[in-house]
Amino acid sequence: MAKSTSSFVCQSCGAVHPKWSGKCDACGAWNSIVEEASETTPKGLTSGKGKKIEFMALDNGAKDATRASTGIGELDRVLGGGLVAGSAVLIAGDPGIGKSTLLLQTVAAVSKAGMSCSYIPGEESVAQVSLRARRLGLLSPKVQIAAATSVRDIIASLDGVDCPQVAIIDSVQTMFLDNLDAAPGTVSQVRAASHELIKLAKKRGMTLFLVGHVTKDGQIAGPRVLEHMVDTVLYFEGERGHEFRILRAVKNRFGGTDEIGVFEMRDSGLHEVPNPSALFLSGREHPISGACVFAGMEGTRPLLVEIQALVSPSYMSSPRRAVVGWDSNRLAMILAVLETRCGIRFSDKEVYLSVAGGIRVNEPAADMAVASALLSALFDLPLPVQSVMFGEIGLSGEIRSVARMEARLKESEKLGFASAYMPKTGAFKGLTIALKPVETVSQLARELFGAAAKTKAPSA
Ligand code: TYD
Ligand code: MG
Repeated sequence: MAKSTSSFVCQSCGAVHPKWSGKCDACGAWNSIVEEASETTPKGLTSGKGKKIEFMALDNGAKDATRASTGIGELDRVLGGGLVAGSAVLIAGDPGIGKSTLLLQTVAAVSKAGMSCSYIPGEESVAQVSLRARRLGLLSPKVQIAAATSVRDIIASLDGVDCPQVAIIDSVQTMFLDNLDAAPGTVSQVRAASHELIKLAKKRGMTLFLVGHVTKDGQIAGPRVLEHMVDTVLYFEGERGHEFRILRAVKNRFGGTDEIGVFEMRDSGLHEVPNPSALFLSGREHPISGACVFAGMEGTRPLLVEIQALVSPSYMSSPRRAVVGWDSNRLAMILAVLETRCGIRFSDKEVYLSVAGGIRVNEPAADMAVASALLSALFDLPLPVQSVMFGEIGLSGEIRSVARMEARLKESEKLGFASAYMPKTGAFKGLTIALKPVETVSQLARELFGAAAKTKAPSA
């Protein structure tokens, strides 16, 4: 007979332990183990007969998923072209980043497009949500709203012929199933509640949005179990103190995962930013030393950002290196390459590097822009006006080619840049921007700063 027991589950990594202890052996977290009712133990494989499953050809004439636009262009882009019926989308992010605002605007836009939708806040009352909707001018009689946290009630209400086309659960950490002992927000509750809701979405062809809060170390609370269960995982992120919010797809069964949507949080809600480069470059009037424009890519979309460097004398034995928005190991590598391959010393200098606008750059293609910003800051000479940079730097100091150079050049041209320092590659047709191919970092230093690179470099 199947027996029901309880098990002890670490709330931070999801490891299951036979008994309680103060520290999780698997991830080392303290006081994270909680007793949870485990599912009934399965019967032995031999004790019952399974049903025969039917196989069919992979090419069985299945149609492409039909897409419905959400009415918010940036959200459509990240979803891979719009909503897919019967799919589950997880929107994860830090508390207060704007997930509820985004989804409230989504329901308003979706209902405007003629789809039926239900908004289920588990954290806020109906009055609170209505108040916010009124303030943002989003009141629509077509949006149905009910505050609920019991999954059983929600399913009983939604499962029927009048099931809405879009449902929003805000947030999944407040949902609970009454047949489990565990408290809402625990691994087993989050897993079971999401499982039931996703099952309903598949059965009724409803698009389900689940909101998930992120824990301190950046994981979706309910240790990643949710990421496996849903079709699409979107992270809503942004720096506190900056108004930009970036919606990033990290998993998408119906589209690419390298897309981002850019929004601006204002007092009138979230606003789409169709041309983010112009936004991230705003505020550049006079050429100053230490600033360099990097022609980057975010997914299929070119994005120009400003990389800023500051170099100051250090009186410490190990000078400070601080980085915001870029990888600190990569900075150490660039500094080492500049020192070894060009003889330009930074070892007695403090180095600060920042990507303006609160965005994070992950591409190695930013190497050349970082090196140029560092040199410009060290020599205290501005870079050529109206120029952009992109290119990866290898350990031997060579500039390597990067992906999608044409798109980067076109975007730079569109925004009025006159020249582009870039890896040496084939020709590009139909561009008016002046191309400045560079082969090595020492050539880059010479071209940008000429004599200064020789006379000012301490060891040259
Ligand atoms: P919210 O959507 O409640 O965040 P989440 O659901 O991710 O926890 O957003 C709350 C924050 O957004 C709050 O700090 C205030 C800010 N905000 C604005 O700046 N303008 C607005 O119009 C709204 C609705 C919120
Ligand atoms: Mg919220």
